[in-house]
Amino acid sequence: METMLVTGGAGFIGSNFIRYMLNKYPDIKIVNFDALTYAGNLENLTDCENKPNYIFVKGNITNKEEVDYIFSKYKFKWVINFAAESHVDKSILNPMAFAETNFIGVCNLLDSSRKNDVSLFIQVSTDEVYGSLGDSGYFTENSPIKPNSPYAASKAAADLMIRAYFKTYGFPAIITRCCNNYGPYQFPEKLIPLVITNALEDKPIPVYGDGKNVRDWIYVIDHARGIEIVWQKGKIGEVYNIGASQELTNIDLVKKILNILGKPETLIKYVTDRPGHDRRYAIDASKIREELGFYPAFSFDQALKETVNWYKDNRRWWERIKSGAYTTYYEEWYKRQLGLKE
Ligand code: NAD
Ligand code: TYD
Repeated sequence: METMLVTGGAGFIGSNFIRYMLNKYPDIKIVNFDALTYAGNLENLTDCENKPNYIFVKGNITNKEEVDYIFSKYKFKWVINFAAESHVDKSILNPMAFAETNFIGVCNLLDSSRKNDVSLFIQVSTDEVYGSLGDSGYFTENSPIKPNSPYAASKAAADLMIRAYFKTYGFPAIITRCCNNYGPYQFPEKLIPLVITNALEDKPIPVYGDGKNVRDWIYVIDHARGIEIVWQKGKIGEVYNIGASQELTNIDLVKKILNILGKPETLIKYVTDRPGHDRRYAIDASKIREELGFYPAFSFDQALKETVNWYKDNRRWWERIKSGAYTTYYEEWYKRQLGLKE
């Protein structure tokens, strides 16, 4: 049985990817290597625990011994790296953790992957490495790398090391850069689950700045499908943007969610802007469409409604997270740094 290493598989996108792959490819063994940070949660994969081709190993990509151990225990054909510190606000508070996991951790994975002759390494990167757009234009794979947040810079640093591995060693890597994801199991620090869960609790919904920042959204299963097609048909050494052409201002998105939930717009509270807040992200996904035949399968309105329903049906999942130590700490920081403007 051929084996795939998925790092960060206990997080939001990684867990959705693993479920999707296990169901579709029962003949591939998937090893999920995850440090279970505040964002990692084995409950995200409870329904997969008993599958014969799924194995979870707790480990940290910043720890070279643990990375060496997993590569000595299994012979990986493919490595797909989702493991990351993923929240921009947190990176403003603690950039070092982002440098360690998102750059040094990736260097550890690259070293072990090269020494163990993996056939393909996919780095799950982000459109945030391109920086910010004005009112017009799109990010292509040739857009300059101009990250603005510590999160984006740490992801960009990894992308550059991967490029160097390809150029120097002919290392078989591909980078994907996706836009903002939404769907089930997303940690409620991110905008969409934060809005849904705060609204369900009738708590204020913090909107940064003027609320006119634009994000380009994709359903998490479409992101998984994009990675799948890159894994099947992608060309070594290439970068592929993944997107679904669904731009929205934050305020329009928040109002849409409140409307789905039947909650009042009076819950919206404008708060002090995030420092260095990127104005607009928008993906040109023509390369993956034209070269690999990738088309998103989910409509935004339908998938957003299903996501809202998932949070309604899975209160226990997010209530436990929101009452946890991390969230208390985060909320304290949030109130101090940004200060709720009434
Ligand atoms: P997430 O924060 O929900 O999950 C990250 C996972 O990585 C968690 O399970 C965590 O325990 C694990 N992890 C963190 N540090 C680790 C370490 N040092 N060693 C091992 N495991 C570690 O993140 P997500 O939203 O699922 O994002 C997954 C990947 O996709 C990230 O690389 C992110 O940069 C990228 N991405 C995310 C989005 C988005 O909208 N969320 C968009 C584009 C790209
Ligand atoms: P986020 O989900 O943190 O993703 P990213 O910063 O990686 O795009 O934020 C999405 C957008 O929502 C971003 O423009 C910041 C904004 N935002 C708010 O207005 N309020 C919030 O409480 C959060 C978490 C984000």
